[in-house]
Amino acid sequence: AHVVTEPCFDCKYTNCVVVCPTDAFRDGERMLFIDPESCIDCDHCGAECPTHAIFWEDDVPEPWRYYIALNREMSAICPPIVDRKEPLAGKGETGEA
Ligand code: F3S
Repeated sequence: AHVVTEPCFDCKYTNCVVVCPTDAFRDGERMLFIDPESCIDCDHCGAECPTHAIFWEDDVPEPWRYYIALNREMSAICPPIVDRKEPLAGKGETGEA
């Protein structure tokens, strides 16, 4: 499955959700997650993410490996997201981007 990792945190551009053919994205408060049971590894989302947050599970960089389990866990408790939303990036006091 594909996995959403660190760069999505506090960004949530949501460009990824509209290209997903299986509606695999789940809406966490600070980032999105991919439900590994729904992901068919089409790889459409990876190219859409401006922060390059999405990796195929075997290609997830070492420091971010724990996101593989986190995507699975959080997908079970977060609602689906299929439409683009206003991103978090650039909002709030810490928004440097
Ligand atoms: Fe996050 Fe990138 Fe999607 S920042 S919401 S994985 S387009």
